[in-house]
Amino acid sequence: CVLSESGRGFCLTRSALITGITGQDGSYLAELLLEKNYDIHGVVRRSSGQRMERLESILPRITLHDGDLLDSGSLLRILEKSNPVEVYNLAAQSFVPASWTQPILTGDVTALGVTRMLEALRHFNPAIRFFQASSSEIFGQALDKKQSEQTALRPRSPYGVAKAYGHFITINYRESYDLFAVSGILFNHESPRRGHEFVSRKVSRGVAAIKLGLQEKLILGNLNAERDWGHARDYVHAMWMMLNQKHPRDYVVATGKKYTVRDLAKIAFACVDLDWERFVEVDPALYRPAEVDALCGDSSSIQSELGWQPDSGFEDLIQEMVLSDLKSLTP
Ligand code: NAP
Ligand code: GDD
Repeated sequence: CVLSESGRGFCLTRSALITGITGQDGSYLAELLLEKNYDIHGVVRRSSGQRMERLESILPRITLHDGDLLDSGSLLRILEKSNPVEVYNLAAQSFVPASWTQPILTGDVTALGVTRMLEALRHFNPAIRFFQASSSEIFGQALDKKQSEQTALRPRSPYGVAKAYGHFITINYRESYDLFAVSGILFNHESPRRGHEFVSRKVSRGVAAIKLGLQEKLILGNLNAERDWGHARDYVHAMWMMLNQKHPRDYVVATGKKYTVRDLAKIAFACVDLDWERFVEVDPALYRPAEVDALCGDSSSIQSELGWQPDSGFEDLIQEMVLSDLKSLTP
């Protein structure tokens, strides 16, 4: 805090609250906002194991609060304690296959959780700016070759349906209550901190383990699926930009290039001079009840209006992930 000319004190430090701070994006966003001198607060849920590894290096510089998107009271209490100017809602049941085995939980957290946070925020302080982590999964079996803010929503999983709800409720609260609430339609983004269950990390860890002689095969599902994969670090930057624009607006955040899972495997094995075809096997048990065949985003709006652009290319991203896993698995 500093003194103004009139002698009245005011605080230069802005406070930001992040739900899902223990996840991939939460950890990168916390680091970005620390660089920008925010006072960082994060929501962590009570669970059997503490999942703090992604936050280890910044733990002394952030404040964590026990809470859950399933529990409205905890959200209101955390808002009161942290008094943020910006809230980033990154928490979700984010693994698509788990949304078929736990559809109700997925709806409760990933859909209704957004409303719980918006309600708490609107009652506590409607001037708080709100970012919702929406997803390209809302487009599902998309009719447009490249999906933009205008593309119709055709979700294909309980997760996609829940994210479509979160997307629309964010827009609805903006229009109903004049909140600065925005929805970032994020296409797939990865990093060495990606959860092990997602295909990019499953491949990078598998390649590293095979190279080190710790694993013989890599079992995958649908090799033909196409995704637009970017780097998580670039995507959290877009989140911050969206909350610091002049007028609230939703944007697609994507690289505009798509690759198949087969390409991903080929590139990852090539990083360690191995031929992917010797090691990859397909198990149809890993196919999804309803697959999203191809996603590729048109992010021209955020590029032209906010000046955002993806810095990392796909091959560099995969190489970074493989090298990181090689390092961590090396005895
Ligand atoms: P992630 O690594 O799976 O992180 C999810 C976070 O949500 C974790 O911190 C988790 O906490 C938390 N969480 C789960 N259930 C919760 C609950 N009931 N209450 C409070 N917190 C809860 O996901 P991510 O990759 O960082 O993605 C961040 C957000 O962007 C998610 O909403 C995801 O759906 C969305 N998104 C991601 C991508 C992508 O490609 N990464 C693309 C589009 C949209 P625990 O550590 O306790 O499990
Ligand atoms: N997870 C996984 N494991 N996916 C596989 C595998 C496998 O062994 N084999 C093939 N795939 C295919 C899936 O069928 C899917 O088409 C594609 O790889 C990507 O799967 P994931 O990495 O699990 O990501 P996702 O696209 O389903 O969902 C991610 O991106 C969404 C944005 O489009 C998640 O991060 C979601 O939270 C996010 O909203």
